[in-house]
Amino acid sequence: MTLQILRVIRNSFTIRSSNCTYSSCHCQRSKYRYSEWGWGRARGARISGTVEARVHSVTRSLRYLSTTRPTFTILKEKVTMPENKPFQRLPKNVVPKHYNLELVPNLEKFTFTGKTSVKVSIVNPTKEIVLNCLDLELTNVKLQYGSDSILNPVEVRLSVPNETVSILFEKSLPEGDATLYCEFTGEINDKMKGLYRSKYLTSNGEERHAAVTQFEATDARRCFPCWDEPAIKATFDISLKVPVNRVALSNMPVKDEKVNNDIKFVQFDTTPIMSTYLVAVVVGEYDYVEKKSNDGVLVRVYTPVGKSKQGLFALEVAARVLPYYKQYFDIAYPLPKIDLIAIADFSAGAMENWGLVTYRETCLLVDEEHTSAVRRQWIALVVGHELAHQWFGNLVTMEWWTHLWLNEGYASFVEFLCVNHLFPEYDIWTQFVTETYIRALELDCLKNSHPIEVPVGHPSEIDEIFDDISYNKGASVIRMLHRYIGDDDFRKGMNIYLTRHQYKNTFTEDLWTALEEASNKPVGAVMSTWTKQMGFPMVQVSSEQRGSDRVLRLTQQKFCADGNQADDTVWMVPITISTQEQPSKVALSTVLEKRTQEVVLENVAEHSWIKLNPGTVGYYRTRYPASMLAQLVTAVRDGSLPPLDRLGLLDDCFALVQAGHTHTDESLKLMEAFNNETNFTVWSSISNCLSKLSALFSNTALDKPLKNYGRKLFSNVTKRLGWDAEEKESHLDTLLRSLVLNKMISFEDPETIKEAKSRFEKHLSGAAPLPADLRSACYRAVLASADAATFDRFLELYRAADLHEEKDRISRALGAVADPALLHRVLDFAISDEVRSQDTVFVIVSVAVSKNGRDLAWQFFKNHWQEFMDRYQGGFLLARLVKSTTENFASEAAAQEIEEFFRTHVSPGTERSVQQALETVRLNAAWLRRDLATTTAYLQPYH
Ligand code: BES
Ligand code: ZN
Repeated sequence: MTLQILRVIRNSFTIRSSNCTYSSCHCQRSKYRYSEWGWGRARGARISGTVEARVHSVTRSLRYLSTTRPTFTILKEKVTMPENKPFQRLPKNVVPKHYNLELVPNLEKFTFTGKTSVKVSIVNPTKEIVLNCLDLELTNVKLQYGSDSILNPVEVRLSVPNETVSILFEKSLPEGDATLYCEFTGEINDKMKGLYRSKYLTSNGEERHAAVTQFEATDARRCFPCWDEPAIKATFDISLKVPVNRVALSNMPVKDEKVNNDIKFVQFDTTPIMSTYLVAVVVGEYDYVEKKSNDGVLVRVYTPVGKSKQGLFALEVAARVLPYYKQYFDIAYPLPKIDLIAIADFSAGAMENWGLVTYRETCLLVDEEHTSAVRRQWIALVVGHELAHQWFGNLVTMEWWTHLWLNEGYASFVEFLCVNHLFPEYDIWTQFVTETYIRALELDCLKNSHPIEVPVGHPSEIDEIFDDISYNKGASVIRMLHRYIGDDDFRKGMNIYLTRHQYKNTFTEDLWTALEEASNKPVGAVMSTWTKQMGFPMVQVSSEQRGSDRVLRLTQQKFCADGNQADDTVWMVPITISTQEQPSKVALSTVLEKRTQEVVLENVAEHSWIKLNPGTVGYYRTRYPASMLAQLVTAVRDGSLPPLDRLGLLDDCFALVQAGHTHTDESLKLMEAFNNETNFTVWSSISNCLSKLSALFSNTALDKPLKNYGRKLFSNVTKRLGWDAEEKESHLDTLLRSLVLNKMISFEDPETIKEAKSRFEKHLSGAAPLPADLRSACYRAVLASADAATFDRFLELYRAADLHEEKDRISRALGAVADPALLHRVLDFAISDEVRSQDTVFVIVSVAVSKNGRDLAWQFFKNHWQEFMDRYQGGFLLARLVKSTTENFASEAAAQEIEEFFRTHVSPGTERSVQQALETVRLNAAWLRRDLATTTAYLQPYH
């Protein structure tokens, strides 16, 4: 047998063997007999090391494979060296102008056939046309010039590792226009990528499947051969041949429909010029509700059959958002229709396909009786996010995935603009800070973070950057910029950008140029320090009174999770400052460009508090001297410091604790000032800090004292809210009650648990159904002390639930069981047929984050590693699983064990997540070592 290293990406490589016998390998399915074996990781030894080192690595990574495929043997001598070509984008000598795409899905056999005829322009004479193609069997390929001359290729060469097909001709093709014909077949797969199947039940319980596409980032090539890069835009005429009783949808409205017996041939209007990753089709059974938006766009929400009412909320949001965006960007939505459709099996939350946005059911459907307030709010955000992409992403598209953040960061900012406009009572901008901003900082202080703009090549690298940096740091730095230049100039700049680049592609710089034109501020210079550099600064303040003036000295330094202060990166930091005189006003703004700078606040008395970063808008942490901090803590206690400043102060303090600049007891002391806190988002931040502490100390003697501490801290707010919603209660109090009760359950508060159990019984008996907002807390309370019989009742509830949201709620509560035998059952349940692949990860996470479940979940992951690899084939669900089953450990021994496991179990698409998790585990270990004694002393009264 011969082994060949095909290609090297970063420090991973693809290996192929010449006589593969693995049953689900590509070579068994494809006519072209490919035998890609998987991935190896050249551990430590860089690819530029010795031949020995490489061979050794291959042996090592294949050792695992050989246990599942016993026929495998390795002959070291026959390993051939890689060509070591870096990843290459498609050549631009032949480019598509227009695609005719016809697809014929077979919803019983899960196969499809397809035809494309693509008008191409041959820009430079060439013998070869290269485009993307993966998991397809090409059955007929030819090129036509003019009306009659047909050229047949001499070779059609598929490359699995490059995900391309090269079509070679005998002679050089002359410059000019031509038409490329392809016929092909493929599988309607179960991997939630490309053209895939999604399972649903009919009203009489019959199992059926829809065919759905998910192409972003690089999976259009699994459905039809195409130039699958965002900058290679073309127009599309799409048509579908489907059973007459199925709904067939695509990006554009239906142009023509012909019925022939029980088959219909549906042709859709021509799309605008667009990227392949935004093409979509859906074939299945759905109902819908519809509405014309004020600006004349036909909006439909497609739901499972019989559930069209569940689409009404999203319909209302979508129909109101379109005119809002039209006015905000001063550009109309360019298509005549937009469909939003709930898909039963869906890997992400939603996908912005132009004119046909696909959603997880839980991100679109609202059931008046069973949908919680937090879910409803989330749905509004998701709808706002995907519709923002219709401009930002679809009309103007990033040139390459390095600029993915332009899409995702921007949409993650605008979704808040939209929800703030539609639902001012949600106070959504305050929630931005806990949901988006803090999550970004938490990841971005790691050595294994990455800059917003990050070079990526191979699809597995692209998948991995759909992360908290692209989304949350991206949105946070745009929010900072928005504040820096102001809303008027921001809108003006957005309009310049979108108008100038519509139907085209952009680099990050193009956005800065437009915003600079609109604002006359050095946007590019400021912003590139945030998008091209990893991490963020900590701004250290010291203060001195000079007569009636307060002089502040500001010093910036990279904030590192391990407390390291050696890094000399400098940012251009927009700084704002508020004072006690006018807590909600910005008293001074400036840009900190150097390491250190002095600012003078005039007429500020010595006793007055001073707050940096009011509103928590700047993407940095602040460190105060003890005296300034003490003044601020007083203002927390009496509530005169605005909510976002109270929250920012606490979270910064907590980050300083984690990095070892101060000790855990300092943050516990500070938290006590929040005893009478009323704001939902501030509580949510307190809760986040406490969860981290309880994870850290869960296997120490501090477990119980921390719970007692938490109970005491939350006791006032628990009393204030009670169990029953007031009439016409505010949305935020509803959210707060859920949060607080969930917390009290985690703190094992006996009274709360007792009440939860009693309400759950009444819920089951039908005497008093639980409001959706209280269910999660009650389920967890009952499960925490559940025996097998009670556990079975929950499985019955799960089976009986019809709404995905409810199934989700139940299955994510299951990890609350304490009995290890039951935790095992939860894990087995997670990978059973009863749980969809899209949800499996979250059920396992619920075990991984529980006190008794951490080791079990990790063990379970290791035991089922191959199954997870096959199930997800990379992608962010796998990355999420890897991270959450590992990152809560807190010892060097655990870190080494995890490291060793991934050394021998190469898991493509999770490389960065593994490094981040390892770093976190080691940080946890150091934190625990540092603070166990002092925290034990501080919590003495709570034993
Ligand atoms: N473009 C993404 C969907 C996506 C995610 C495609 C990952 C490929 C890989 C979409 O716009 C998106 O961001 N969806 C979010 C929901 C959003 C409200 C944050 C998601 O799926 O989590
Ligand atoms: Zn998005």
